[in-house]
Amino acid sequence: MAKVLVTGGAGYIGSVCTEYLLEHGYEVTVFDALITGHRSAVDPRAEFIYGDLADREKIIDVCRNGKFDAVMHFAAFSLVGESMVDPSKYFRNNLGSAINLADAAVAGGVKNFVFSSTAATFGQPEKVPIAEYDRQVPINPYGESKLCFEKVLKWYHEIHGINYAALRYFNAAGASELHGEDHRPESHLIPIILQTAAGKRDCLKLFGDDYDTPDGSCIRDYIHVWDLAQAHELALHAPESGHYNLGTGNGLSVFEIIKAAEAVTGKKIPFEIAPRRPGDPARLIACSDRARKELKWTPQYESAEKIVESAWKWRQKFPEGYAD
Ligand code: UFG
Repeated sequence: MAKVLVTGGAGYIGSVCTEYLLEHGYEVTVFDALITGHRSAVDPRAEFIYGDLADREKIIDVCRNGKFDAVMHFAAFSLVGESMVDPSKYFRNNLGSAINLADAAVAGGVKNFVFSSTAATFGQPEKVPIAEYDRQVPINPYGESKLCFEKVLKWYHEIHGINYAALRYFNAAGASELHGEDHRPESHLIPIILQTAAGKRDCLKLFGDDYDTPDGSCIRDYIHVWDLAQAHELALHAPESGHYNLGTGNGLSVFEIIKAAEAVTGKKIPFEIAPRRPGDPARLIACSDRARKELKWTPQYESAEKIVESAWKWRQKFPEGYAD
């Protein structure tokens, strides 16, 4: 049985990926500092090690002793706005601590490395859909920190022979049966809409209705988190190291997501138009042909309703989110 070290397995995407791996016969060890993650989000079938990747000796020990076949690296800070205020926090963790992990993988002889990268590495795209080799000019320290680590992996591949896949998620959304999205404070569109539907917020602030898009609101490529998990497992068998953009290729506006949420929940979602949020590109849509072709990735959740429905089901099961 293959053994995988999942850093950030107490977070949103890491917890779902852990669940997916366990259901597909992998043995999983979660390594998490529980800064933004939740202890109760760690699947009880996984081994849990509490630790911070900033602790270089500790992660080297874990990799030396663990006999892992692969590392999946989710542990990172991911708030664009916060990164514009405190870039040091983003470069120290998303780059510096990630280098500790890469060194630990080398020291422990771990051959495969799957990295949570992001569409934010592209900045303002020159065109959509965005392909892997389109221009990457991040417009915030968050995107830059992820792009820097993509480059680190490229060199560790050449010099140390580590196989890697950098998976650039577009807008991760939805929930599995057991795990969902619970950021504190919440800043993501779908959870905020569902909190509004559940009466936990008065209304959604819609950031800008004057973009150059058909209905004036921003367009994003919402990709279901279970589909992302599938891509991680497939990336372990990638024919070669490299980068993959992960999205449905289907752009949805904020108004379309509100409409889908109203259909799924049967509730009216009150909203008010607020000023544009700094740093929001008008459109982000993935071209994920490479993942579909080379990884044989086949996303299952292609509609807004299916994605929102899974998130709503999870919210109803866990109205307050995770207990801790
Ligand atoms: N939005 C609102 N109101 C809100 C929250 C969001 O109108 O209260 C709008 C945003 O302006 C944006 C869209 O909804 O147009 C999606 O916003 P999210 O905050 O849900 O997601 P982002 O597109 O900003 O960012 C997400 C991840 C990033 C990642 C990016 C890549 O949070 O980490 O996708 O596409 F880099």
